[in-house]
Amino acid sequence: MAWILAEKIRPAGGRYNPALMKTALTRRHDVSLRELNTFGIDAHAHTFVSVKTVADLEAIAADPQLSALPRLILGGGSNLLLTKDFSGLVLHMVNTGRMVVGESEQQVIVRAEAGENWHEFVQWTLAQGLPGLENLSLIPGSVGAAPIQNIGAYGSELAEFFHSLTLFDFATRETRVLSRENCNFGYRDSIFKHALRDRAVIIDVSFALPRQWHPNLRYAELAAELAAHSVSDPTAQDIADAVIAIRRRKLPDPAQIGNAGSFFKNPVVSQAQHAQLLAKYPQLVSYAQADGSVKLAAGWMIDQCGWKGRSVGAAGVHDRQALVLVNRGGAAGSDVLALATKIVEDVRTRFGVSLETEPVIV
Ligand code: EPU
Repeated sequence: MAWILAEKIRPAGGRYNPALMKTALTRRHDVSLRELNTFGIDAHAHTFVSVKTVADLEAIAADPQLSALPRLILGGGSNLLLTKDFSGLVLHMVNTGRMVVGESEQQVIVRAEAGENWHEFVQWTLAQGLPGLENLSLIPGSVGAAPIQNIGAYGSELAEFFHSLTLFDFATRETRVLSRENCNFGYRDSIFKHALRDRAVIIDVSFALPRQWHPNLRYAELAAELAAHSVSDPTAQDIADAVIAIRRRKLPDPAQIGNAGSFFKNPVVSQAQHAQLLAKYPQLVSYAQADGSVKLAAGWMIDQCGWKGRSVGAAGVHDRQALVLVNRGGAAGSDVLALATKIVEDVRTRFGVSLETEPVIV
C-alpha cells in the first residue's frame, strides 16, 4: 500500500478504514517455504497468501474457510525453525513503505510497513540523517518481525527506540495501535510471542529517533572495532559500518548457509548461582543485569562443551559463534531440533543451566 493512502487511512486516532483499501487476495496451496525461511528448511504450507493491505487481512478474517485454519505469520522468516509441513494458512507480509510521520524538538518519528527489510530500513534512516538504529544494522528479517523478539545487538535493542505499531487482531477483526507499554518487551521477548501469538498481525512499526544523538559504544567489541580503525569520534554511519564488519566476520550469511541467528537465548541466573559457577569456571563470560541477576554467555558454554563447528547429520554448530546453529545443506527442521536437544542436555549436565530457544519453532 502506498504511504499517501496509509496516512489517509490511519488518521491521528490510529485506526485504519478498510473501506478505503483494496484487496486482491490469491490463495495458493502446497507452497514450499524453503526460500522464505533463512534456515532454508523445505517445509510446505497447506495454504499460502501474500498480504499487501489491511483489506487482505479483512478478507481473510471474513472468509469462513481461511479464518478457520491455524495461522503462521511470516515476515523475513529469519527467526523461525520449521520442523514439519504447516497444515494451516501462512500469511506472508509483503507490504512496503517508509516515511517520516512526525517530529518534535526532541524526536523524529519514522514509520515502516511490516514487509520492509529491516537492514534496508535502518540504512534508509541513516541516509535521512536520522541516527539511532545503527547498532541494529544487518540483523536479518523484516520490520514487522522485529518487535516480536525485540531484536537486539551490540548494546542496543529495538524497545529503546520503539514508538508504536499498528496490528490487525483476528479475534476482533480490527486494527489497533499498541504503545511500547502494551507490547511487554523483554529480552528477545514481547506479547507477540505469548498472548498475541498468531492472533495479531503487525502491519507497521513506528520509531522515535532522538534529535540529540549520542554514539552507543557500550559493547566492548564494537568500541574495539572502531579503535582498530582509528575512529575516535564516530558518526552513526561509522558505527553501522563497524557493526556490519563484526557481524560479517562472526555470523554466517543466511544467503550462503542457512541459519536463524542465535538459536538460544543467553540464560539469566541468580547472583548466587553465578557465584557458584564462577568459582568452578573462572573464565565464565557473564553480564550483570540491572535487577541484580546475571546473564551468561550461552555461546561460551556451548563452546566449552566442545560443540563449536560440530555437526550431527546436516545440522551443525557454526564454527565462529557456537550460539548459531546452521543448515549445512538439506537439513530438516527436526535435524536442527535434535542437535539443539543434545546441546541443551550437555549444557545442563555441565553447568546446571537450562537453555531456551530463541527462534519460533513450528
Ligand atoms: N563466546 C565464546 N564462544 C562462542 C561464542 C561466544 O567463547 O562460540 C563468547 C564470546 O567470546 C563473548 C561472549 O561469549 O565473550 C558473547 O559472545 P558474543 O559477543 O558473540 O554475543 P552473544 O551473547 O553470543 C548476543 C546476541 C546476538 C548479538 C550479539 C552481539 C543473544 C541470544 N544473542 O550474542 O544476537 O548479535 O550478542 O550483541 O542475545 C540473535 O539474537 O540472533 C543474535 C545474533
